[in-house]
Parts: sequence; structure tokens; C-alpha cells
Amino acid sequence: MKKNIIITGTSSGVGLESAILFAKNNYKVYATMRNLEKAETLNKVIKENNLSIEILQLDVTDNTSIISTINTIIEKEGKIDILLNNAGAGFAKTLEQTNQEEIDWVTDVNYTGVVRTTKAVLPHMRSSKSGHVINVTSIGGIVGQPFNELYCGAKFAVEGFTESLASYVSKPFNIHFSLIEPGGIATEFMTSAVKNTQNKEGELATGEYAPIFHKYLSGAQSRAKKEDVSPYQTGKEVAEVILKVAETEKPPLRVRTSDWAENLSSLKTQMDPDGTKLVDQVNSYFL
Ligand SMILES: NC(=O)c1ccc[n+]([C@@H]2O[C@H](COP(=O)([O-])OP(=O)(O)OC[C@H]3O[C@@H](n4cnc5c(N)ncnc54)[C@H](OP(=O)(O)O)[C@@H]3O)[C@@H](O)[C@H]2O)c1
Repeated sequence: MKKNIIITGTSSGVGLESAILFAKNNYKVYATMRNLEKAETLNKVIKENNLSIEILQLDVTDNTSIISTINTIIEKEGKIDILLNNAGAGFAKTLEQTNQEEIDWVTDVNYTGVVRTTKAVLPHMRSSKSGHVINVTSIGGIVGQPFNELYCGAKFAVEGFTESLASYVSKPFNIHFSLIEPGGIATEFMTSAVKNTQNKEGELATGEYAPIFHKYLSGAQSRAKKEDVSPYQTGKEVAEVILKVAETEKPPLRVRTSDWAENLSSLKTQMDPDGTKLVDQVNSYFL
């Protein structure tokens, strides 16, 4: 058995595929999900492949569930090697048409949830002087996307949060931080995002924003048809990138998961594609 890993949001998509892939590669996997009734798919794969995966309840918006699950793992393992913050939810709506409850929710799931779980594991990683926190953000955490200001704002926040921790926690305590930055992924995400966003009439943008939204959508669709490289990966492909990052001796601060994602963000990332130069520069001031 290699290291242990706790993963959030394993009921579907990247989280589910990561749980399976890490277990197939001999990690002890703690696959967490907010609703255990959604464990059927994972349970089936565990049985069929005799995998070392334990499923536990964890809602990233509920600190009590986070602490209780982390404590359960620490009691069994004595340490946590890898935290994979994967849980997230899409949201595409104009700021003007979003209410306060929605603003709080998008931020809570996509940003504050990452802060909570990281805060819960850090003391354990610090005391064992080892660990790796891997946060799944998005190309939308580097490049602001139309009609995605709240989701992108939350993902940008995770990028800043992670970059800051890497700047002073990594070296003294041997805790690595990595950001996984996918483009599109063919998962439940889009369906859930539309469900989270559309109004009773099934519209995603209304009033003066509606024509702009429709222009944006048709432009994106026609660009996608012309492009040689697909914007979409499978959840398994993204999980493979995450495994590679976990197994790298000096892991990168940030990694795009596809050529499409790399191209879209290159204006911002080409000076320091994996973020290593930036961390080294900040470290050079004081460490
Ligand atoms: N799909 C894309 O196009 C795309 C692109 C870039 C980045 N991403 C990022 O990739 C990550 C994985 O998304 P995915 O594509 O695999 O989508 P997905 O299939 O919808 O999976 C999202 C997971 O997050 C879970 N989740 C939502 N709210 C939660 C909460 N409060 N507590 C715990 N878990 C919660 C979901 O659980 P439930 O089943 O209970 O809802 C689900 O397991 C996310 O961080 C997402 O932002 C996705």
C-alpha cells in the first residue's frame, strides 16, 4: 500500500474517477461525498475490482462533517498524506440576476469548502512534516469567463489561497500544494450547473443580458466546431493528470490538464507555466 488520500465529491465525475484510479494504483482511498445515497456507482466498482476504498460522508459546507471525517481517518491512519479538494458546483448567471443566497452558496461550495478542509488537515500534515493538498480549480480560475463571474471568482480565490499557502508552508513543513486547472470536462457538472442556474421558464439570462448571452453561446458553439482540439476531457483523463501530479517528487504549483486549457490561458501563464518560478521568487525573500 502506498499513501492514503482523502477525496471530496466522489459521487460522480472527476472525484469518482480519481477514487478508482488512486485505489487501482495502491493508495488507501477515503472517498467522501455529501450524500451517501449516491455511493451506488462507486460501491459497485469497489466490489467488482476489490479496491481499497472506504466511503465516508463529508459535506464541504458543513464543518462538523469535515472535522468528524478527518478525525475518523486520523484515528485509523495516524496521518493524512493527500487531500484532494475536488468537490465543486457550476453556476452561470449574471451578477445582477443572482440573489444573496445563491452568491453565498456558490462561494461556500467552491471556495470556503476548500478553506475548511485544508484547515482541518493542515495540523496533521504539519505534525508529520509531509503532505500534499491538491485543489481542483478550473481554467475559470485563471481566465474570467462570461456569465461565470461568481464561479470564476470562487475558483480565482482558491488559486490565491493555494498560492499563498505554498509560499510559506511548503518549505518549512514539507507540505506540497498543487492546483489542477481543467478546461471542459464531460461530467454531471454542466447539467447540474444549468439546473442550479436557470429560472422557472428555463432561461439562463434574461432582460438586456439575454441577447448577449445567446451571442456568447452561439459564438462558443461555432468556435468549438472549428477547433482541432476538443475543449472536453473525460473525468478519467483529468484523474490521470491528478495521479501524475501526486506521484511527482517536486509537484508543480499549477497544471492545466489539456492542450485546450493550456492554449486558453497561455497569455497569463506562459512566463511561469507551472508556478514554480513564482514560489521560488517569493521564497527567496525570506526562506
Ligand atoms: N466539468 C467541467 O466542465 C469542469 C471544468 C473545470 C473544472 N471543474 C471542476 O472539477 C471538479 C469536479 O467536477 P466534475 O466535473 O467532476 O463535476 P460533477 O460530476 O458534478 O462532480 C462534482 C462533485 O462535487 C460534489 N459536491 C457538490 N457540492 C458538494 C458539497 N457541498 N459537499 C461535498 N461535495 C459536493 C458533487 O456531489 P453531489 O453529487 O452530491 O452533487 C459531486 O460529487 C469541480 O471542482 C469543478 O468545479 C469542472
